[in-house]
Amino acid sequence: KAKKKQLLINISREAARFFYKNLNKNPQAMKYLYNRGLSRDIIRRFGLGYSLNSWEGLKNFMAAKGIDPEYLYSAGLLVKRNNNEGYYDRFRNRIMFPIIDLKGNVIAFGGRVMDDSKPKYLNSPDTPIYNKGHNIYALNLVKQIKDLKNIIVVEGYMDAISLHQYGINNAVASLGTAFTEQQAKLLKRYADEIIIAYDSDVAGQTATLRGLAILEKEGCNVKVIRLPKGKDPDEYIRKEGLDAFKNLVENSMSLVEYKIHNLKQNINIQEIEGRVKFVKQLATILNTIDSPAEVDAYIKKYSREMQINEAAIYDELNRIKKRHT
Ligand code: CTP
Ligand code: MN
Ligand code: MN
Ligand code: MN
Ligand code: MN
Repeated sequence: KAKKKQLLINISREAARFFYKNLNKNPQAMKYLYNRGLSRDIIRRFGLGYSLNSWEGLKNFMAAKGIDPEYLYSAGLLVKRNNNEGYYDRFRNRIMFPIIDLKGNVIAFGGRVMDDSKPKYLNSPDTPIYNKGHNIYALNLVKQIKDLKNIIVVEGYMDAISLHQYGINNAVASLGTAFTEQQAKLLKRYADEIIIAYDSDVAGQTATLRGLAILEKEGCNVKVIRLPKGKDPDEYIRKEGLDAFKNLVENSMSLVEYKIHNLKQNINIQEIEGRVKFVKQLATILNTIDSPAEVDAYIKKYSREMQINEAAIYDELNRIKKRHT
């Protein structure tokens, strides 16, 4: 079994090399990446590649090396034909993103179309060497940083790569929005402070709250970057520049601030009903804080900001505490 895994790892590395070579031979694919702001150096650092516009490009390349399609299938690189007669390449005419584990092994791939066709991304299925929820994209690079203070977690391949392109070397991607406990444990190994910078859409917000909860449970100190509407980190840094992004990092919010920020957006503070709801939910959020000084600071801040009497917030908080004792 260990032998088979090693074989699949070797095959995946070979495939990554093939994709990389093909990228350098394909001006259209190179142009796509240059247009997205990536340099030759960063393309090499992330081992990006290109899968041929052909049903059997990889299969034939590997066959010439004497590699059985059955193994390529196990590695997630081939798909079985409908009639079960033979295989074809899973990834065709796509920009290829190798997923590399902490030992430096290529274990899976993501592939992006170069236009608006669907699906935008295709990913390797789970295989004997790859389990989606157990990996963090680019952590193999980030873990090499000495005196790593914090790690920035983004959603997508391009977000992570784009931040690295700008010199933000501590960015990783959770790949999609389903953050897992195993991923939190991996991050915790390398840094105690984790900064979440997910897309600003609803899916991203939901995922942020979920990710926050999971990371806090693992004992991480979590902060959140709120990006402007409709932007992801890649779009933001390319449009607004490095300093603007650094500024967002500096001003990243704590979990409590983030929850209150979301709360503020979901109520109408001009209406009585909205004010009542705000005070109640604010108290529920503050009730999760251990430090009285911290609670006091937040109450001062939000009573000023929302024009609400401090005593009203304290009353609500005390009411909740009584209910729970
Ligand atoms: N994703 C995926 N399959 C999809 C869409 C998304 O696996 N059909 C994952 C990818 O890991 C992707 C991440 O979710 O990087 C975030 O999705 P999205 O925001 O839609 O893509 P971007 O990363 O912004 O990609 P791009 O900038 O290239 O459009
Ligand atoms: Mn999104
Ligand atoms: Mn999107
Ligand atoms: Mn994007
Ligand atoms: Mn995105």
